[in-house]
Amino acid sequence: MAYAAFRSIGAYIPEKILTNDDLAYMVDTSDEWITKRTGIKERRIAAKEERTSDMGVNAAQVSIERSGLDKADIDMIICATISPDYFNMPSTATIIATKLGLGQITAFDISAACTGFVYIVGIAKAFIESGMKKNILIVGSEKLSAITDYTDRGTCILFGDGAGAAIISATDKKEEAIIDVNTGSDGNYADLLMTPNGGSGSAHDSLESDKVCMQMKGNETFKVAVRTLTNDVKEILEKNNMHSDDIVHFVPHQANYRIIKAVGDALKMREDQVVLTVGKYGNTSGASIPMAINDIYESGKLKKGDMLLLDAFGGGLTWGSALLPFMGE
Ligand code: COA
Repeated sequence: MAYAAFRSIGAYIPEKILTNDDLAYMVDTSDEWITKRTGIKERRIAAKEERTSDMGVNAAQVSIERSGLDKADIDMIICATISPDYFNMPSTATIIATKLGLGQITAFDISAACTGFVYIVGIAKAFIESGMKKNILIVGSEKLSAITDYTDRGTCILFGDGAGAAIISATDKKEEAIIDVNTGSDGNYADLLMTPNGGSGSAHDSLESDKVCMQMKGNETFKVAVRTLTNDVKEILEKNNMHSDDIVHFVPHQANYRIIKAVGDALKMREDQVVLTVGKYGNTSGASIPMAINDIYESGKLKKGDMLLLDAFGGGLTWGSALLPFMGE
């Protein structure tokens, strides 16, 4: 049987920084309020001409190079994004594949909001274990600044842009395998976090309605997030007979420091186990987890064989966790 290994990581961090002080010029807020309620100090914003696919390409290039694979070896690409180049076609994955020169491979996007990256780890694992594909490029890329309402202080303080990518490859060694991916959803909570315009469910008569922007019930989302993230991890650890102590790096979705702290405490994670990038990147949705993994990789903290626990939640609601040894060099 083929197993699926998480073989490399890469990321792209846009140059431009948007600080809390910058935001205080745009909406009625302050650095003190944002820092206290979210832990976010700054976030990155893509250049005007920089698209989600461009950031995805940059992150992918790094992950391909670090995997040691030739581009010709890659036989599928999946992109997780809620800010695609185009709503709804062509998919951002096809654009990335072509810009990278990957040839006519299988390419598609998925929509699972901030849980997107965990979902595509699961999809890639299934494709490899079934024997259908051998080397899959997975990309989480977001230009959230394009779908953020910068007059709404409840949301615009949270989000940023960026991309992360990884290669998932077939292996015959069980000890290298992604152990488990646990995903779920509940549409009863759809209205907590959504982009209400621009689709067939829009309140407007025409699909050419208002700008597509995120809307959120922040306070309710916060509570559901803590509960969901905690339960999700308990479930995957229990199912695989593992404990918090077995995890070297706990990589939660980077939405809010207070959410991460509450979840980390509930799971009895030590501070050194919990990966934190929310302060400098904000919430980058589908890109948040791979950007965080790349951060510990580039700082030298992430070593080959380290056990990672990924944990995400997002609009939908969706949630998911993944247990995997990092197999990059
Ligand atoms: N600056 C200053 N005041 C703000 C503000 C801002 N940026 N945003 C909201 N407020 C105000 C509200 O208007 C409200 O004022 P009022 O009491 O006079 O009505 C007050 O602060 C409290 O609002 P509330 O929404 O209850 O604050 P909160 O403590 O829940 O913090 C969030 C708001 C958005 C930071 C928080 O709810 C959050 O992070 N939620 C989770 C969001 C998330 O993770 N989403 C992504 C999911 S993937």
